[in-house]
Amino acid sequence: MATLRTIDDLDACAKRVLVRVDFNAPVENGVVTDDTRLRAALPTINHLLDQDARVILMSHRGRPAGKGYEEDFSLAPIARRLEELLGRPVQLAHDVTGLDAGGKADDLKPGEVLLLENLRFDPREKKNDPTFAAELAELADAYVDDAFGTAHRAHASTTGVAKLLPAYAGYLMKREVETLTGMLDAPERPFVAILGGSKVSDKIGVIDALLDKCDTLIIGGGMCFTFLAAQGKGVGTSLKEDDWIERAAQMLDRAREKGVDLLLPVDVVCADRFAPDAKTLVCGVDDIPSDMMGLDVGPRTCERYAEATAQAKTVFWNGPMGVFEMDAFAAGTRKVAEAVAENEQANTIIGGGDSVAAVNKFGLADRMTFISTGGGASMELVEGKELPGVAALRS
Ligand code: 3PG
Repeated sequence: MATLRTIDDLDACAKRVLVRVDFNAPVENGVVTDDTRLRAALPTINHLLDQDARVILMSHRGRPAGKGYEEDFSLAPIARRLEELLGRPVQLAHDVTGLDAGGKADDLKPGEVLLLENLRFDPREKKNDPTFAAELAELADAYVDDAFGTAHRAHASTTGVAKLLPAYAGYLMKREVETLTGMLDAPERPFVAILGGSKVSDKIGVIDALLDKCDTLIIGGGMCFTFLAAQGKGVGTSLKEDDWIERAAQMLDRAREKGVDLLLPVDVVCADRFAPDAKTLVCGVDDIPSDMMGLDVGPRTCERYAEATAQAKTVFWNGPMGVFEMDAFAAGTRKVAEAVAENEQANTIIGGGDSVAAVNKFGLADRMTFISTGGGASMELVEGKELPGVAALRS
């Protein structure tokens, strides 16, 4: 595969460098409530500033209508938090490629930082419109893409502009791609993959791909009930995708053929309704009452999953084991998170999304080898898809 051009190949001194970051971070009452993605981009931004580059940052946040400025999706709270993290001023342009952005980009001095407004205020961003990409490219001399979280989107600020300027991967992009592809291409064995989340249909490509790579595949979360149904078990009122039962059965067969140990729950925590104060019952998977729903994996399952995880030299985890947002159904996810954290001999990789929220909630983030900043992007990469934002940086 062609190599990734990286920021180390760029002499950024005094150049205007347009940097695509993924600052799609949660904001409440004008304050960033999780700045992980901002911190993750700091090595790239600081490296450029150390070289006296003129740094022009651009990002999307959320999914605005694409009809111009919307205060709820403004990057103003991001600019304020970034100023604190960088310890220097961050100017915010009030448009994306308009007069304000153009003027501020022209006036930028070496070592200064400008953040453009939310790229998705312009409908041409998601359409990968070449004229919008050209307007972005016009602002700078070189382009750095550090937005791994958006690398699965072929938008003007990712693939479009990369064709028009000398383009390089930032440090975060490089580390994400190298860690995830390294895990897939040459994992230290045993390789244990843990998948949770509510739907089989969302994860089928990932399950398929991991069955070719891993030694043990642990399944939890709502999607385990479709697998249990495929084994002919009654799952009560648990979440189950009827259209996917046959596909789940095929996955069980494939795992057997490939010699992959596919682990399903042996017991579950059931509830009489989807609520934090629901009446609960722990039971074996053959005894799920017809009027109850499974909302977490049970204690015997946790033991089994922890034992399998302890043997691993490589662990990949994506998706919670239960409804961990409710305390009554958080034990399975907590136990798995602890088992991953406790395995200090393994390369432990957390694949974005809810599992990241879980390790943060349980205070275990520091004990993981790598936490991906990409949810959808890391899943697509694990599925074996070439991400358009990454392909644009290869030569
Ligand atoms: C994400 O949070 O997964 C990325 O920022 C991509 O956002 P999107 O799904 O709205 O394109």
